[in-house]
Amino acid sequence: MIKVLVTGGAGYIGSHVCRHLHDAGYEVFVLDNLSTGSKENIISPATFIEGSVGNPELVRQILTDHEIKNVAHFAASIVVPESVENPLKYYENNVCQTVGLLDGCLKSGVTSFLFSSTAAVYGTGNQSEISEQSEIAPMNPYGSTKATVETMLREVGAASGMRHISLRYFNVAGADPQSRQGQRNKKSTHLIKVSCEAALKRRPFVEIFGTDYSTEDGSCVRDFIHVEDLSQAHVQALRYLSKGGPSDIFNVGYGEGYSVKQVIAELKSVSGVDFEVRNAKRRSGDPARLVAKSDKIREKLGWEPKYQSLRKIVTDALNWERQL
Ligand SMILES: NC(=O)c1ccc[n+]([C@@H]2O[C@H](COP(=O)([O-])OP(=O)(O)OC[C@H]3O[C@@H](n4cnc5c(N)ncnc54)[C@H](O)[C@@H]3O)[C@@H](O)[C@H]2O)c1
Repeated sequence: MIKVLVTGGAGYIGSHVCRHLHDAGYEVFVLDNLSTGSKENIISPATFIEGSVGNPELVRQILTDHEIKNVAHFAASIVVPESVENPLKYYENNVCQTVGLLDGCLKSGVTSFLFSSTAAVYGTGNQSEISEQSEIAPMNPYGSTKATVETMLREVGAASGMRHISLRYFNVAGADPQSRQGQRNKKSTHLIKVSCEAALKRRPFVEIFGTDYSTEDGSCVRDFIHVEDLSQAHVQALRYLSKGGPSDIFNVGYGEGYSVKQVIAELKSVSGVDFEVRNAKRRSGDPARLVAKSDKIREKLGWEPKYQSLRKIVTDALNWERQL
């Protein structure tokens, strides 16, 4: 059985990816400090180690003791507005901790490394679709930390031979269609999560941050991708590296944009609840439009999304939230 260490495997996305890796035949090990993740998210066949990814000795020991050569790195701090207020927290957790992780990986001969990058590495997003060649110009410290790790990986890979893939996720949402897993973090700021909470009367209203953007209805436009399709992209990326594929970077999105107002309308329609929506000021660090050009991952990794539907994303997120 091929083994893989998943950092952040107790978090929202990492836990879904763990299930997909397990179903694809991998033996899964999770390293997580439970800062935002939860033990309940960890899939039962996984071996869990509680600890920080920035501890190179711990990482080296896990990797050598279990002879693990594959790492998927999800652990990070992820809230854009918080990164604007407290950039050093983001540099410490997303960059410095990754230095420790990579040190441990190099000392134990890791051959394949997947990195959770983000569309936030791109600039203002004026293009209709953003390709991997688009300019890297992060609008917030969160995006800067992810762009820094991409650079670090390229340089570490060149020096060591470790091959790596950075997946630049667009807006990840939804939940396991069987409601075994989903977004559990009570402090989540993700639009679909907070709208589900409002529909279920767990919060009084939803705010739209900025209604004067140069988009069709004035609210920001994002490319929402189902967490199941995103998870499958990781399985394919790891297989690609295992077969000797070279290091690379891929967008993971559908190439379809929906505005914040459209998403809220969809949630109201699916839930049948007309929850309160308030217009609020723009948040600093939010680009107007982020929509992926996703031909490259489809062509090179053979990725074929199965859940490309806003209604499906919203329905699965709401079903999960109902039984939380
Ligand atoms: N959610 C999105 O829409 C989105 C979009 C683009 C990229 N990403 C990236 O995906 C990854 C996972 O995001 P998520 O939404 O699942 O977030 P999450 O907060 O649910 O998961 C992060 C996990 O990492 C753990 N963690 C954080 N710092 C750690 C550290 N130093 N050592 C060990 N564990 C640590 C947390 O406890 C948590 O379990 C992140 O790298 C994020 O930047 C997410």
